[in-house]
Amino acid sequence: MSLKQKDLVSIASLSTDEIMMILETAESFKEVSGREIKKVPALRGKTVVNFFFEPSTRTRTSFELAAKRLSADVINFSPSSSSVVKGETLLDTARNIEAMQADIIVLRHPAAGAAETLARGVKSSVINAGDGWHEHPTQALLDLFTMREKKLDFKGLRVAIVGDLAHSRVARSNIYALTKLGTEVRAVGPPTMIPAYLDRLGVRVSYNLDEALRGVDVIMMLRLQLERQGRALFPTIREYSRLYGLTAERLRLAEPGALVMHPGPINRGVEIAPEVADSFSSVILDQVANGVAVRMGVLYLLSGGN
Ligand code: CP
Repeated sequence: MSLKQKDLVSIASLSTDEIMMILETAESFKEVSGREIKKVPALRGKTVVNFFFEPSTRTRTSFELAAKRLSADVINFSPSSSSVVKGETLLDTARNIEAMQADIIVLRHPAAGAAETLARGVKSSVINAGDGWHEHPTQALLDLFTMREKKLDFKGLRVAIVGDLAHSRVARSNIYALTKLGTEVRAVGPPTMIPAYLDRLGVRVSYNLDEALRGVDVIMMLRLQLERQGRALFPTIREYSRLYGLTAERLRLAEPGALVMHPGPINRGVEIAPEVADSFSSVILDQVANGVAVRMGVLYLLSGGN
């Protein structure tokens, strides 16, 4: 088993069979993290370079753990202490790293399209760990993995994605993935945070959270991406929270047993009430745990699956 493509830059470029193959491979790796010795030799002799131009807690750590649990050598390249600060370009930097025999480069970058540009410029495999507002494919894959683990069937499932969809690479990757798999996706947020093209992707748009939550099986909350918003898209955070924050009372509008998801980092008391984030409905930390298994699956499949 392997992926036909050299890189994983987007969910849009994956077929449903490839998505399911990644989820099944991740499932086979999940138990490794529960072992006393959390290691298998699948990527022995391979080198994985984490190349993060933006802050990250979950994605960078879980790629490192995933690579180490597969026995790969891992380098965490820090742009701020590298020759990038002297003006070396992304591509030149990556080609120099590649010259030291890096097999896989995991890239997070603030520019949409950076991962695609890098993938075309190097022979190493490139994994997109988030490029601007464009895509975050491994986040969507771990979200799917978590839904599947909770025995949810993608066909006929109803998922509400709530918040700043305009700036969310997580939302975009999830919309591509879920619509491919036959899931009903509802996008909810203020009009300034809902891009106009979403209805062309088969997404139901709503500006009223209470209305949109009725009957959903999964609620995916998003963080306000203030760092990507060039201007204020909402009068005040308090107002935003009142209209679009997920409270325990609102959660009761969804199907009984509905899952609450969030890619993190969460802003407690803004988009999600603390008692909801920490409730039995919340699978936020399951998502984080599953990120390691999913990234093990992706690293393994891009390395040829041997
Ligand atoms: N979900 C996510 O991408 O989190 P980090 O920014 O911490 O990696």
